[in-house]
Amino acid sequence: MATIPGSVGLPVFGDKSYEFYKDPIKFCQKNISSHKSRLFYARFLNKPTAFICSNKAVQELLTVHNDSLELGYKAFMGEIFGDNILFSDGEDARTLRSSLKQLFTQESVDTYQLTIDSVVDKAVASINPKEPTCVYSLMKKICTEICLSVFLGLNFSDASQTADTIVALTTTHWHGIISVPLPLKLPMTSGSTYSQALHAKDSLLKIIISKREESSGQFAQKVEDTATSGGLREVFINNHLLLFTSALVPKALSSLLTSLIMEVGKKEGDLQEKLLSDPDMMEAVLLEVQRLYPPFLGGRRIVKKDVVLGGWKIPSGHSIMYVTQAAHRDPEAFVDPDTFNPHRWINCSPAEKEKLFCFGAGPRSCIGQHLVWKIFKTIIVRLLCSWKFKLLGDQDFSHKWLPVSKPKQDVKVQFTSRNA
Ligand code: HEM
Repeated sequence: MATIPGSVGLPVFGDKSYEFYKDPIKFCQKNISSHKSRLFYARFLNKPTAFICSNKAVQELLTVHNDSLELGYKAFMGEIFGDNILFSDGEDARTLRSSLKQLFTQESVDTYQLTIDSVVDKAVASINPKEPTCVYSLMKKICTEICLSVFLGLNFSDASQTADTIVALTTTHWHGIISVPLPLKLPMTSGSTYSQALHAKDSLLKIIISKREESSGQFAQKVEDTATSGGLREVFINNHLLLFTSALVPKALSSLLTSLIMEVGKKEGDLQEKLLSDPDMMEAVLLEVQRLYPPFLGGRRIVKKDVVLGGWKIPSGHSIMYVTQAAHRDPEAFVDPDTFNPHRWINCSPAEKEKLFCFGAGPRSCIGQHLVWKIFKTIIVRLLCSWKFKLLGDQDFSHKWLPVSKPKQDVKVQFTSRNA
């Protein structure tokens, strides 16, 4: 059977991790073009790794081959988060998913609406039209406050000092996630940052436990209700609350919201009003932003049983990087793939939407999607009901992709009141 083009190189010396981290988009484009294939091999994190940049192959990988794969995140983040669903596989993962999914059904997510509204209303009212606003910073503040309010029951109005402490801890914890000690010394690796992050994790876990004792949040209560009895119950509750309150989720949300405001701001005509008046256009813009700017560049898998993907064999023991960003710009899947064109989603078939992997796909897809859409729509609708915005001229809109994507420079806009 044919093998994917490319070379797995010599251990350590043939490793391409540095090249990948330096510029992952250039790395993929260079390999796609030199191998004339959107599937190629390279040595990454010192392991033979199949890079999957074809839309069709990513879909097949995530939906058909799950049982032959393990998630490959434990080496990166296992210690910094402690046991949670991201580091489990097989039957354990299925059991955890079915418990956790109850927290994020449409019905559950509706119960978080009041909390989300109160954070968003306060933030939208505090926008200052007298000076330009940095969009990513604003979105990060709103999304962090939403996550800590929903997941920990924190009230930022009367607990601002506790809130500031928690936000600072999540930032230190985050720096540890991106400075992971791996077999290879990577560009952003630093030992002391990592140990500070482990301390931050311990402090966050103590806060989580004390918040649970205060019974200050309905979400924590729900996590307790979904947890099965047994020795691992406490670990399940605390570690998943740590995962949800970590900086990862607000960063991903802020990334998409900033990209949306940037693209809507670039468009001529009144797309802003259209977003408010036309739900189909709102949906189309949200889909197109996901396509062009997925917050997570891709995902990792370790092959447990040989896989045949699109006719190519990937043997057990090898790892796989599926590259969402590249699959979303695969010319075989999308016409004019680099152009922001929300109209491609108007009246599209359900099969078209299955070409998006911003939230993964198949049995290990994101369980937080209903909540993401709720937060998204609440922020965009309330923002646009009160304000019009214009991008300031002469800005660099290029994106960085790791560890979570966002425009390299914060996007600056001028807000003016809709009633002025
Ligand atoms: C814009 C925001 C978000 C994005 C872009 C996102 C993206 C993703 C992606 C791509 C995956 C699959 C990873 C893979 O295939 O390896 C995933 C899994 C997951 N997401 Fe999200 N996510 C977001 C928000 C959330 C939220 C708000 C929650 C819950 C609070 C959440 C909880 C999870 C969990 C628990 C998994 C693991 C599922 C499993 O392992 O079976 N995510 N997410």
